[in-house]
Amino acid sequence: MISILILGGFGYLGLNLVYNLKNLQYNVIIIDNFKNSSNYYNIDENLKYYNIDIRDKDAVEKIFCEHKIDIVIWCIDTINIDMTLYYDINITGLLSTIMLMNKMSIKNFIFISSNTVGLHLALNVFRKQHDWQDGDEIITTPLTFVSTNHSIMYERLKPIFADVDESLCLDPKSVESRITSKTKAVIYVGIGGNTGQLKKIQSICKKHNLKLILDAAHMAGTKIKNTFEGGQGYIVKHVGQEADVTVFSFQAVKNLPTADSGMICFKDDANDKLARKLSWLGINKDTFNRSTQGSYKWKYNVEEVGFKYHGNSIMAAIGLTQLQYLDEDNDYRNHIANQYINTLKDVNGINIIYDCLLVAKSSRHLFQIRVNKDQRDSIIEQLYANEIYPGVHYIDNTTYPMYKYAHGTCPNAHQFSNELITLPIHLNITSDDIKRVCDVLITAISQN
Ligand SMILES: Cc1ncc(COP(=O)(O)O)c(C=O)c1O
Repeated sequence: MISILILGGFGYLGLNLVYNLKNLQYNVIIIDNFKNSSNYYNIDENLKYYNIDIRDKDAVEKIFCEHKIDIVIWCIDTINIDMTLYYDINITGLLSTIMLMNKMSIKNFIFISSNTVGLHLALNVFRKQHDWQDGDEIITTPLTFVSTNHSIMYERLKPIFADVDESLCLDPKSVESRITSKTKAVIYVGIGGNTGQLKKIQSICKKHNLKLILDAAHMAGTKIKNTFEGGQGYIVKHVGQEADVTVFSFQAVKNLPTADSGMICFKDDANDKLARKLSWLGINKDTFNRSTQGSYKWKYNVEEVGFKYHGNSIMAAIGLTQLQYLDEDNDYRNHIANQYINTLKDVNGINIIYDCLLVAKSSRHLFQIRVNKDQRDSIIEQLYANEIYPGVHYIDNTTYPMYKYAHGTCPNAHQFSNELITLPIHLNITSDDIKRVCDVLITAISQN
């Protein structure tokens, strides 16, 4: 049974919603501190309710865990409260939210051995299902880890590079200008956990009947605002249901680190079914089913020339444990990012790469800035000299030999690639460390 927590369940909207949901057989739990609540004296004794202040995060979280809450609905005046702080839903009680929520949840997911194989699998499945031909075109970004683009080559499709905007994600205008009769899909990368103009890319794909593949390698824990159809407000959901397929990475340095693994989430059930089989060499029964279903455990058929892409149990065990800390870890990453922003936002010569409005909570996989390209390398050297180790995400992929046919076609990506610095962001960095990074960086900029 789905458990729904109503925050403010004794207000006018709240109580109506509570009774409606109970009629629909949901398990309803209420938190309300009863102030100003005339309904308090009319309540049904069978309701499960808690008289606490919802800003008491620990108390709320205890109730949240105890009742294994699936959905949270806010029915309160939330002006002074960061509504995205703990929960998934954030809208003044409308019953249809629940239907929408159910419709929008990630329903298909396969644990695989990496994001790279997942991207390949996604293209392999779409190619098979839609009869794509060698040389058909996939629009992609030059500002990414090469896995994104190599996956296109594995299927003998052609990467067509579109330019990026200031979020470092694909620019919708540039994407649209690259569409031809051979275009089959767009691969969109949520750089650093940001979503950029993903919504516009979704519309373009819909308009031109293209598959949308989201490379969410950086996005474990990124939550985005899905505007509520025909109503006010929005639902905050974990990224993963926007594209036709979303591929996460749980590699060692990612937000949900295992050592090496990933997850692929298809929107369409038939694609999920095929991918499941292909990820296990094309065998029509997985080991779990073979060991739990009756006799003939040894008997299976091989229906496709599949791949050995499934995730292994050791990684899965690590991943399940890490999952419990994902939100907390991402809160810390956001805290670090905010400290960087507060210190660096007014410094001449630094352009911060910001989250976009669609993001309710970024995974903050990276914290990136842009500086003058003529100074970039010497600034990095100076940081190194002070035992600070920044990165660059990424080198323009069209400078690599296999993609150089597109060199010069994406001026923003090329320019940004020469200006970018990724500052240290991880769970062991302290406020003092960040202060030191900023001091050294500011000195380096003023001296170069
Ligand atoms: C944007 C992007 N895509 C894909 C990958 C590949 O992920 P994996 O190492 O899980 O194959 C990475 C990894 O760094 C990445 O950053």
